[in-house]
Amino acid sequence: MALWGGRFQEPTDGDLRALNDSLPFDRRLALQDVHGSIHYARAIADAEVITTDEAEQIITGLRQILDEFEREVFEFQTSDEDIHTAVERRLIEVIGQVGGKLHTGRSRNDQVATDFRLWVIDQITRLDVQIRDLQAALIAQAEQHLHTVMPGYTHLQPAQPITAAHWLLSFFWMLVRDRERLQDAYHRMNVSPLGSGALAGTPFAIKRDELAQNLGFITYSQNSLDAVSDRDFVAETLFVLALMGTHLSRLAEDVILYSNPAFGFIQLDDRYSTGSSLMPQKRNADPMELARGKTGRLIGHLTGFLTTLKGLPSGYNKDLQEDKEALFDSVDTVAKLLPVITAVIATLKLNRDQMHQALSEDLLATDLADYLVRKGVPFRQAHHVVGQVVRHSAMRGVPFSQLEVSEFQTFSPLFDQDVLEVFDFRAAVEKRVALGGTAPSAVQSQLEAARKYLSHLIN
Ligand code: ARG
Repeated sequence: MALWGGRFQEPTDGDLRALNDSLPFDRRLALQDVHGSIHYARAIADAEVITTDEAEQIITGLRQILDEFEREVFEFQTSDEDIHTAVERRLIEVIGQVGGKLHTGRSRNDQVATDFRLWVIDQITRLDVQIRDLQAALIAQAEQHLHTVMPGYTHLQPAQPITAAHWLLSFFWMLVRDRERLQDAYHRMNVSPLGSGALAGTPFAIKRDELAQNLGFITYSQNSLDAVSDRDFVAETLFVLALMGTHLSRLAEDVILYSNPAFGFIQLDDRYSTGSSLMPQKRNADPMELARGKTGRLIGHLTGFLTTLKGLPSGYNKDLQEDKEALFDSVDTVAKLLPVITAVIATLKLNRDQMHQALSEDLLATDLADYLVRKGVPFRQAHHVVGQVVRHSAMRGVPFSQLEVSEFQTFSPLFDQDVLEVFDFRAAVEKRVALGGTAPSAVQSQLEAARKYLSHLIN
């Protein structure tokens, strides 16, 4: 018997059922659904809607169902529309008609909103651990490369030398923000909608604050009409995952590029590289391409679901059922991706020599301008003078360090013998000691801050 069949003479059309039934995906909410019902049974007994004895019977039945789910022996039936109806159907099978009292004052609208929040809260804790593992891998790799100098890029053109540790840690801080956003969303979604009924609240004396606490929520919702249709927690989580995907995708792009033989800066471990069925020499960075590629669907789920939400009238609408497949898929995608990316980073080999060879003295042009600045030349003028030096060295086809001091002096009399000291990549890096800079000493304090962050902010 469907849960709402009383007012209909005909059974629901089969094609509509295939479209409407959410059991194929919302069965993932089974544990949350039963957990919610156990506490709900207590709450309505407390409100004297059912007797303590009835509540006991219901809870015993629900415990058996929980056990069936845990042992994976729960049998779904074709008539089950969604996880909520399946559990209720089974409860009545197990304990008889008294099971039909459980849904008093409750609607699937407040029920599903409760179940799904509980599920997302759980997942956030799990994802947070996975992100943390990736952060730890970035730190461990950075520790090895505090003194490895590589070209840094802007516009993907060689810009200034940086340390490889600085490059690696740049992703650490993106992930810090992602974790903070997740935690922020976690607190905001920790609000129980249960006891909101279908839209207008419940006429029974349910202590919603106690019910919320028993369910593990921080607090309860203030407006039943909002509570049943609020899916901000889904949209926010989709956003955080889409943005984190965007960060992973950017990391992926760097790794793909730097592992290209034209760069040759890094090599992926054999276990995390793939070959070509045709070209024997190929060594592809598939895991990183997948990170980049799958970010497309993370962004897709976010825009898709916001589009679902934007035109909805007040209260629950069936459109909201779209929330689950989107978020399930985003969570699964990220959960599958993170351990692989973590392993790629942990096993990545950085090729110090190749990185060093890729450094050209052009990358020191800014330092050359700074040399003049230190002698009192306004930066704008120094920039212009060094631009002329760059042109001159390009025309002569020799690097800065091979020019005569007299050649420098044709562009500015302030150039002196000590100009040659500028052409030292390590020295250039070591100069950037201001907080947040690329100098090994600055990166050392960055690393300390990173380690501190990791040890403090565990969920
Ligand atoms: N399967 C539904 C969902 O996921 C459950 C809520 C159904 N509510 C309703 N009034 N039909 O949103």
